[in-house]
Amino acid sequence: MNPLTTTAAPASAAAPTVPSRDRFRPAWHYAAERNWLNDPNGLVYLNGTYHLFYQHNPFGTDWGNMSWGHATSRDLLHWEEQPVAIPCDAQEAIFSGSVVFDRNNSSGFGTARNPPLVAVYTSAYGGDSPLAGRQAQSLAYSVDEGRTWTKYQGNPVLDRASADFRDPKVFWYDGAAGSYWVMAAVEAVERQVVLYKSADLKAWEYLSTFGPANATGGVWECPDLFELPVDGNPEDRKWVLIVNINPGGIAGGSAGQYFLGGFDGVTFRSESTVTEGLQKDGSRMREYGWLDWGRDYYAAVSFSNVPDSRRIMIGWMSNWDYAGSTPTGGWRSAMSLPREVLLTRVDGEVVLRQTAVDPFEGSELGSFHLGPQRLVPGTLELPVTGTVARIDVEFEPGTATRVGLMLRAGGAQATLLTYDVAEGMLRLDRRASGHVDFHGTFASIETVAVPLQDGRLRLRAYLDRCSVEVFAQDGLATITDLVFPAEAGTALAIIAEGEGAQLLALDVVGG
Ligand code: FRU
Repeated sequence: MNPLTTTAAPASAAAPTVPSRDRFRPAWHYAAERNWLNDPNGLVYLNGTYHLFYQHNPFGTDWGNMSWGHATSRDLLHWEEQPVAIPCDAQEAIFSGSVVFDRNNSSGFGTARNPPLVAVYTSAYGGDSPLAGRQAQSLAYSVDEGRTWTKYQGNPVLDRASADFRDPKVFWYDGAAGSYWVMAAVEAVERQVVLYKSADLKAWEYLSTFGPANATGGVWECPDLFELPVDGNPEDRKWVLIVNINPGGIAGGSAGQYFLGGFDGVTFRSESTVTEGLQKDGSRMREYGWLDWGRDYYAAVSFSNVPDSRRIMIGWMSNWDYAGSTPTGGWRSAMSLPREVLLTRVDGEVVLRQTAVDPFEGSELGSFHLGPQRLVPGTLELPVTGTVARIDVEFEPGTATRVGLMLRAGGAQATLLTYDVAEGMLRLDRRASGHVDFHGTFASIETVAVPLQDGRLRLRAYLDRCSVEVFAQDGLATITDLVFPAEAGTALAIIAEGEGAQLLALDVVGG
């Protein structure tokens, strides 16, 4: 997005926040009490608290006045909104970026005894600034665990005289090449991830450039770079480079792709590059690595400083195609459920596995269970509803042609999650999900190839008032879509087409 002229009053002068609720407001997905939200920013864990900063317009339900909103949580599920952390001003909008815990006070912004949190964000200069039209990287710091933030006097700290240099993700590299901070940022229009290093977060030295590669049908935004063990083996590790892209995502509009490979402290070498350079035709899109195959998982980045090296990501649960038109009142857009990401080997190939932080773990509330049974072709309506729920189902499709679930059904409306056995394709069809007319591109069907495992298909779906997040085969493929069903859209049903399908189990928690 381009910087707006920011003429707004400081956030502290805004009217007191009155929570805005409607029937689409999620129970478990973070949304600002009021007003607009996009990318998660500055995800960091410190002293028992997860901090979620985010792109926020404190003054309206549309994109603009970009500032960093702030929410905190002790469990990644219950979020408490905090005052705006870094407000825009007449010179700059505060675009996406990251926060690091500067443990050794390398920046000097804190003390050895009280090391700072340092935010590395994109200054999108506008209005009064002599740098108007440029995007460069800047710092702000907090010495009170993220409550208050001070901008660094020496900003910007990294300026390439570019109009599209943004979204810095910083991490501490400790490897064969040495120990230093590394920044991954994008030259968005060039479809490039650029890497820099620093000893103090203030002086940055160029390392290397990655891209264009794989999906290039839109600008590259919000990169991330981290290392993970394969199947938990510390001797077998790979680096994951996340590159969000808009438009040109796998389901249309915004999406996140990932590359696996190696990083030697200077250069990222991809092992998953299928196509290099700028692609004119996207015919190989399905061969690329996608974080999610739905329409509504964008700008996904990971937390830093999480204990036990867990890698937890959050995405913005929307799509730039229609983000400004979604039919909610007083608030707009929510985050995805946080997801733990792991690497695992499937048939010799290393792939990403994602598991949502589960709001229903250990809960029996409204629980409903169906045991093994043959599925009669047709629709089996369940005696349980689902608007805020977790649904687990396992099918053995056998000779049937299709199996699946009808979600948020009522009247002529339903969201269909179906598996086409011959094609081996999982589909999420929201064409008749409810309100779809608010934007011409919203009605859609998302698809992902999902091989059966031992003849079985396992699906987990989270419903939360205006969203469906599907994790297939224990998170080897995911589909995230917004839906805006009519009030009556609460029913759940099992679908089978053709003889021969077995239901192994179905469990619903919530209601
Ligand atoms: C991604 C993005 C970022 C930018 C921010 C502005 O959604 O366009 O590249 O920093 O949003 O809000």
